[in-house]
Amino acid sequence: MNAHERIAVVTGGGSGIGLATCSRLAADGFTLAVLDLDVDAAKAAAGADGTGYEADVSDADAVERTFAEIVAAFGRIDVLVNNAGINGGPAATICHETPVADWDRVHAINSRGPFLCSRAALPVMLAQGSGHVITVASVAGMIVFPGRCAYTASKGAALMFAKSLAVDYAQAGIRSNAVCPGFVETPMTQWRLDVPELRAKVEGNIPLGRVAQPTDIADAISVLASGRLGYMNGHALIVDGGWTAL
Ligand SMILES: NC(=O)c1ccc[n+]([C@@H]2O[C@H](COP(=O)([O-])OP(=O)(O)OC[C@H]3O[C@@H](n4cnc5c(N)ncnc54)[C@H](O)[C@@H]3O)[C@@H](O)[C@H]2O)c1
Repeated sequence: MNAHERIAVVTGGGSGIGLATCSRLAADGFTLAVLDLDVDAAKAAAGADGTGYEADVSDADAVERTFAEIVAAFGRIDVLVNNAGINGGPAATICHETPVADWDRVHAINSRGPFLCSRAALPVMLAQGSGHVITVASVAGMIVFPGRCAYTASKGAALMFAKSLAVDYAQAGIRSNAVCPGFVETPMTQWRLDVPELRAKVEGNIPLGRVAQPTDIADAISVLASGRLGYMNGHALIVDGGWTAL
């Protein structure tokens, strides 16, 4: 590794927003360590200079093991992008109809995942005296997605977790920010957007008149990761085409 190399760890980098983020950060000059359930997708996203790892971000042992491998391979972590997330199965709807297992799984990945990955990355950042944790929350962490109580609650938790890091680690030279996308066209949402009436309904609520592409969110993460917004800490960067401004 050369002395100026910057290392970014991206979770859930195999698809959608994570994949676009890997591509953007690689173009920005970062070397990538990519975690995903799908190891082939993780490897493809990491590119020739990076490394892909099979890891479930909700599995404490797997996360510890994987970050130890990352540190052994790259020696440092400049940016952690906590991106892996799920919106829950079709049964995860309003509170009394949501199976307990669905609630637990959504929270395990969307809330516990950022905790476990940050917990593993922070000692490295503390030793460096620098680092930036960027957590992909959602506008659902700020406003309610009707009928999606587990997802909404998990993103609220992820957002406040990101703010907690911002407060607790600032003196150590480590910043933490959240990105809050609105509606993004990815495999997570494709089923809805493939139905023309549903797409029209979603896009009718967005002042810019279109859903986001994964690159729209990757661009925001790229600016944060660049360090150019160096005084930004504990911020929730809304990237939603104006949806929540309505
Ligand atoms: N798509 C949207 O409209 C939207 C809006 C706001 C926020 N988000 C958030 O953005 C993030 C990425 O979403 P996306 O739309 O790109 O989804 P996606 O389904 O396209 O990609 C998610 C990736 O995460 C991986 N993943 C899932 N569970 C994992 C686990 N336990 N451990 C490791 N990897 C795991 C998947 O394999 C996949 O590669 C999520 O946190 C999501 O909640 C998405």
